[in-house]
Amino acid sequence: IPAHFGIIGMGVMGKSLALNMAENGVPVAVYNRFVSGKEEKIATTFAADHKEFPLLKGFDDIHSFLSNLQHPRKILLMIPAGAAIDVQIDQLLSLINPGDIIIDGGNSFFEDSNRRSVILEAKGIHFIPMGVSGGEEGARNGPSLMPGGNSNAYGLISPYLKKIAAKDKQGKACVTYVGSQGSGHFIKMVHNSIEYGEMQTIAEVTHLMRKGLKLNPLEIANIFREWQQEGLKSYLLEITADILEVRENDGFLVDMILDEAGQKGTGGWSLITAIQNHIPYSALSEAVTARQLSSKKSNRAELAKLYNHQFRAFAEDKVLILSHLKKAYALTRIINHETGFNLMKEISDIFKWELDFSEIARIWTNGCIIRSTLMEELVDLYKNNDQILKDKKIIQRAKEWKSDLAYIVGLGLQHDFAMPVMSAAANYFFGKIIEDSSANIIQAQRDYFGAHTYIRRDDPEKKSQHTEWLFYKK
Ligand code: 6PG
Repeated sequence: IPAHFGIIGMGVMGKSLALNMAENGVPVAVYNRFVSGKEEKIATTFAADHKEFPLLKGFDDIHSFLSNLQHPRKILLMIPAGAAIDVQIDQLLSLINPGDIIIDGGNSFFEDSNRRSVILEAKGIHFIPMGVSGGEEGARNGPSLMPGGNSNAYGLISPYLKKIAAKDKQGKACVTYVGSQGSGHFIKMVHNSIEYGEMQTIAEVTHLMRKGLKLNPLEIANIFREWQQEGLKSYLLEITADILEVRENDGFLVDMILDEAGQKGTGGWSLITAIQNHIPYSALSEAVTARQLSSKKSNRAELAKLYNHQFRAFAEDKVLILSHLKKAYALTRIINHETGFNLMKEISDIFKWELDFSEIARIWTNGCIIRSTLMEELVDLYKNNDQILKDKKIIQRAKEWKSDLAYIVGLGLQHDFAMPVMSAAANYFFGKIIEDSSANIIQAQRDYFGAHTYIRRDDPEKKSQHTEWLFYKK
């Protein structure tokens, strides 16, 4: 029987999705580029290693791979983002027919996906740029899927995607048609930005507990497990507790891991998108910057000596600090989600994508890296609100917890800790809720040195004004 789905690219994600499909009753063909003498026959070897799945077939030759696919062909690309995608699409274009469907399941930049949508649709090939989250485990047992692009083609592939996706609490698949063109890749990019913010916040909290409160990794893991039970359940907090518990000899594995963070680029892309479109995203900027700063370990070591840097332990009551810390962490998470969803709202308006935020939150409640009870709350919140910070329950919590966040940021800074995302969250929050901002001074300065003009508060017509400031100089 011809395969219902074809997958190109046998990296960890491609392989895991292929097994997921085969296990869920989808006849699937896999192909990986094979150059004799240079590369191994990855696809046929992989299929041969998985004889327990008779629905899985491997091909090392693109022609036989394509002729074994049911029409219209449904071809999922699981190859690295960037030029490799264009090269693969070019090759396919000469071999496939109008009506066939290409799905890009990698972490492609959404503007590239917009461009590819236009090119492919003009040739009659349907294009589905699709975000995939959940890492290897998710891909194998149920990822969160974010397909966008051609909606008719989505109709043809959705039964398959529903079979392999994670399921939400109601048993509904964590997949939805996101919107036209590259919107699926766009929301995956924002998913990763929220992921960056969540990860950095947990890192900051862990650091305060470790170096400021002098708790050991097991004690911190226990506190995180308590928080999990107390309304702060998230996959990332859970895996951090797991990580902290891994021992090595007399110590802990986490202490042996070099403190230089890597990044593949999606965080930076979101930041560029935010800046180009004048959308604030300081929490992400700080999360990306923190990773960049961390990667210069030898310079940090040199400067630490010059400045005699030492974390100073907290003298205040441990229990009290922990109770502030929990609320500060909770509020930072709310603000981190607010900035990510705000970016989605603004870009959705610009591209006229009409993104459904309740539905986006729903497909992120399982399968993906940022699944959490907060995400579950956002599903309902977005049914009644257009902004996280306008929700009654959020207002109540933020009013109470803002002093905890301010206290923790202050405490950390006073004891020589870096608090990048937590302090950015506090500043973003106040920047957003203060009616009387300091920007009148900025406008006056701009008008003073550059005649950039300003608008008067008492002018209903909002006309540009200029003052000859030097005339008033004493
Ligand atoms: C996911 C992850 C996944 C990937 C990150 C890592 O949703 O499954 O986000 O896509 O692991 O992109 O990104 P960095 O290497 O930039 O941390």
